[in-house]
Amino acid sequence: MIDDKKNSLKKDLPTFFASCPRGLEELLEKEIYNQSITETYLKNGGVLFKSSYIKALRVLLTSRIASRVHEQVAQFAIKIEKDIYLQGIKINWTKIFKVEQTFKINTLLDRDSSDRFKNSLILSQILKDAIADQFRSLKFERPDVDTRNADISLLLRIEVAPNHNEFSTYIFLDLAGEPLSNRGYRKSRFTAPLRENLAAGIVMHTDWQPEKEAFVDSMCGSGTLLIEAALIKGDIPPSYLKIISYTEKNIKPWAFLYHSKFLADIRIQAEFKNLIQQLYTESRNKLIKFKNTKFYGFDIDPKALEITKENISNARLPETLFELKKIDATVAPPPVSGPGVVVCNPPYGERMDEELEDLKILYHEYGENLKKNWKNYKAYLFTGIPELRKNISLQTSKRIQLYNGNIECRLFRYNLF
Ligand SMILES: C[S@@+](CC[C@H](N)C(=O)[O-])C[C@H]1O[C@@H](n2cnc3c(N)ncnc32)[C@H](O)[C@@H]1O
Repeated sequence: MIDDKKNSLKKDLPTFFASCPRGLEELLEKEIYNQSITETYLKNGGVLFKSSYIKALRVLLTSRIASRVHEQVAQFAIKIEKDIYLQGIKINWTKIFKVEQTFKINTLLDRDSSDRFKNSLILSQILKDAIADQFRSLKFERPDVDTRNADISLLLRIEVAPNHNEFSTYIFLDLAGEPLSNRGYRKSRFTAPLRENLAAGIVMHTDWQPEKEAFVDSMCGSGTLLIEAALIKGDIPPSYLKIISYTEKNIKPWAFLYHSKFLADIRIQAEFKNLIQQLYTESRNKLIKFKNTKFYGFDIDPKALEITKENISNARLPETLFELKKIDATVAPPPVSGPGVVVCNPPYGERMDEELEDLKILYHEYGENLKKNWKNYKAYLFTGIPELRKNISLQTSKRIQLYNGNIECRLFRYNLF
């Protein structure tokens, strides 16, 4: 199946891989499709697609779901570890980056290939040797590895091939640099915040109709769901803060700006200049026009509300769009009569017995409040402890499996009539 689709991909366009939190792949595919990119293939943890380089940059700048966008450097099959070296040394690395630039390699194995290869660090090391040996033979010097702050970040992705005799191996070059989920509006530390792209995915998975329905986060923490909902309603590109600082202050936040391909191609540079200018103007206009709407955030902890306020201000969103209230969600009435969507991401706790007992009570009382007082709302609860759902005596009408890092989570929906 994988190869059928892959083979049907046009040969002339480059291939890219957009990664995302697991469980959000289909939403990401839709976003890519909406950029008029039709050749896509769903993978675990992302979407492979064929497009022009500039369209891939558009995905990088406008996707709310992608964690990173990578350009495919090579694809080949391997049977044993050494094949990575033999194939890796055939790639012309000196065209991809300069010997003065630092690099790093992350290796990702799917379940079957991790049974076979076990140690992903060794595989990264083998590819690193191939790159270093090639540079040494051509330039008499080798580039340095920097595992923290490399100029060039490579992803080696290995998955079992359909015939199960060999492994499909992909080498990708990360175009993003800093993860795209770091929008730039979160500066203070807050315990257990949602990553911004996961929060956007949760909002997009609700059946919220922004034009007609209120949006409430009843345990808003640092306000990530509220801010992502606002960006969705305002149709503001998720990278807008980076776009603004690139345009106004010449701060260069994306890795592709330092890649040999971008630096050597004036046509791509001109296309990018147009794209960024268009997104900059759009972002500024939309931020100015964004009024006459409200997002409601509750939290029992005043410190959380302070951080939400700070994040809203960092996000350059008008303070007047948000109504924040210190209140216990187990007794809070709806801020407006509805229709609306109420989401929440209750505390996770450490799963110690005592804490778990408190969370059971919290879930139960929250469910009772929804049942009694929140008629005319659709309620969503995102949790990393799905078994706590049993403490809510409401019928779940939808459940979606999502991952917060490696934690398997669920988004539950309840209809309240
Ligand atoms: C996991 S955090 C939410 C994180 C948030 N989604 C974010 O991205 O920052 C859970 C929040 O629920 C709040 N909370 C706990 N019990 C509450 C209650 N009974 N009513 C309202 N908020 C509550 C906590 O203060 C905490 O800020």
